Amino acid sequence: MADTFKDIKQLYSLAGRNYIVTGGAQGIGFAVTQAICQMGGNVAVLDIRTEPVEAYKSLSSQFNVKTEYFQTDVTKEEDLKSSFEKAIASLGSLDGLVPVAGIVVDKPFVEQTWEKVNRIQQTNVMGTFFATQLAVKQMLKQGTPGSIVLVASLCATQTTPGHRVSGYHASKGAVLMLAKGLAVELAPQNIRVNSISPGYTESDMTRKLREQYPQVIEVMHKVAPMKRIGNVNDLTPAVVYLLSDAAAYTTSADIQITGGLHAGRIEPNSLD
Ligand SMILES: NC(=O)c1ccc[n+]([C@@H]2O[C@H](COP(=O)([O-])OP(=O)(O)OC[C@H]3O[C@@H](n4cnc5c(N)ncnc54)[C@H](O)[C@@H]3O)[C@@H](O)[C@H]2O)c1
Repeated sequence: MADTFKDIKQLYSLAGRNYIVTGGAQGIGFAVTQAICQMGGNVAVLDIRTEPVEAYKSLSSQFNVKTEYFQTDVTKEEDLKSSFEKAIASLGSLDGLVPVAGIVVDKPFVEQTWEKVNRIQQTNVMGTFFATQLAVKQMLKQGTPGSIVLVASLCATQTTPGHRVSGYHASKGAVLMLAKGLAVELAPQNIRVNSISPGYTESDMTRKLREQYPQVIEVMHKVAPMKRIGNVNDLTPAVVYLLSDAAAYTTSADIQITGGLHAGRIEPNSLD
């Protein structure tokens, strides 16, 4: 028998739910924080920066939700653990996690150093891995369903000519596969794990890149099928969807948000 039709707005609502966002002090992570708040969710942000962007301060009053900020280095086990404890104590429980904290280093492969590549792996892979482990431990303790949205990248499956980010490729490939493995392992506990894979998106990360290697960003304007770089508004609806009950039967999905670049290029020779 067909299930009863549910109110679609209700399915997308995050009202009264509690989330942790790492890397939420700026850029994509802040946009995700803002979107969750607007959908009625409470958010604890964990980020290495001393302070989040100015707009963070008004989220709580603007959307009538709880927001907390804990300065945290996701590469440090004790720091991450202690911020999770504080965040959960303040929120009361946990319904979801979006581990956004990530870094990139653009350098030719042979110039990549142990120190920098280690930092990329520690931040993008270990930080994501163990933030997710802490969230899952809490969800299992509560015995409640949960949703985790990992942030992979176009770079998990594709390369861009001129963009020399081998350490980053290695890290985002790991994040993408981590989401798949966890989705299957945790499905019996009703903990869903999905990922998004953004193409180049306006943020501090890509602003620096644009200054260094304008040709890499030009890819988005010239050869990406939709002929523009992405922005945070292209990403937040997908994250909200995956966190919400609208995606109750969706796990192990990766939503590629690249303006079509992951599927093909419209002028493949334009960068030659
Ligand atoms: N911008 C893009 O084009 C793009 C594309 C695909 C994927 N991504 C991914 O999206 C995520 C966010 O990227 P962004 O563009 O907003 O970058 P960003 O540099 O603007 O933001 C990254 C955030 O992570 C935080 N962070 C960095 N290291 C940390 C650490 N050790 N502990 C805690 N917080 C830390 C930073 O302080 C910052 O607030 C990253 O995982 C990135 O790889 C970005």
